[in-house]
Amino acid sequence: MMNSSPAEFPTRGAVYARDLVVARAGNEVLRSLSFDVPRGTVVGLMGPSGCGKTTLMRSIVGVQRIESGHLDVLDHSPTDHALRHRLGYVTQAVSVYRDLTVRQNARYFAAIQGSTPHAADRAIDTVGLADHADRTVENLSGGQASRASLACALVGDPELLVLDEPTVGLDPVTREEIWTHFRRLADAGATLLVSSHVMDEAARCDSVLLMRDGRLLAHLPPQELLDRTGESTMDAAFLSLIRRGNAGPKRASDHQGDRR
Ligand SMILES: Nc1ncnc2c1ncn2[C@@H]1O[C@H](COP(=O)(O)OP(=O)(O)O)[C@@H](O)[C@H]1O
Ligand SMILES: [Mg+2]
Repeated sequence: MMNSSPAEFPTRGAVYARDLVVARAGNEVLRSLSFDVPRGTVVGLMGPSGCGKTTLMRSIVGVQRIESGHLDVLDHSPTDHALRHRLGYVTQAVSVYRDLTVRQNARYFAAIQGSTPHAADRAIDTVGLADHADRTVENLSGGQASRASLACALVGDPELLVLDEPTVGLDPVTREEIWTHFRRLADAGATLLVSSHVMDEAARCDSVLLMRDGRLLAHLPPQELLDRTGESTMDAAFLSLIRRGNAGPKRASDHQGDRR
């Protein structure tokens, strides 16, 4: 079922999915997902472990076979080479070389991306690691190592950042700092899709995609999640939504215009 008229196509979101179905090892793990990620916003992808967050992100970055349905990423097919320099992806595990320094890692990723050493240094600055740029990753704290991964995804100023549980295991102060970076990037025009199983982080997003068992329960701004469920915490609101079970997916773009 298409919700958009052709007239809306020019403002189609950074990620646009309709009836997306993905199977892994013969099991349907994404079950007919339809949603739009508005450009220039931070969208949280939330849901319990195993609900399909990583699989959805893998589909968006073009490394996961799609069974059926439609998925557009920055108006391209996810496997289109044209996307390579426009998209940054940070996997769930730290994906930088532990025996290289932060700067060596960032410059390596910059070289792969066809970007400059200067862009690498700028990305290190953005994540607040300038003072640690010449330390090897193995000599950084967990939070600093995560930020090093993020810096590598930032070189080349991607229009869309897909970040898989970037704040797992981080202390509250580092989490706060990283979310502040996300906001700053979105304010500068980037689109961020950030997964988490910590519902509190939903409050930092412009809208949240709530998943369970491969299905989308809702797509709405965090405050509306609280209002609709009458709960005061994100955790309670999510549980309430699951109990109701009939929330039906809703598009954030129904509630807010595209932010630049
Ligand atoms: N490599 C794989 N092969 C087969 N099934 C997988 C694989 N990775 C994940 N799955 C299954 O796909 C479903 C969604 O997993 P995943 O996308 O990793 O969820 P999440 O990131 O939300 O924890 C789960 O049922 C999981 O068991
Ligand atoms: Mg995952």
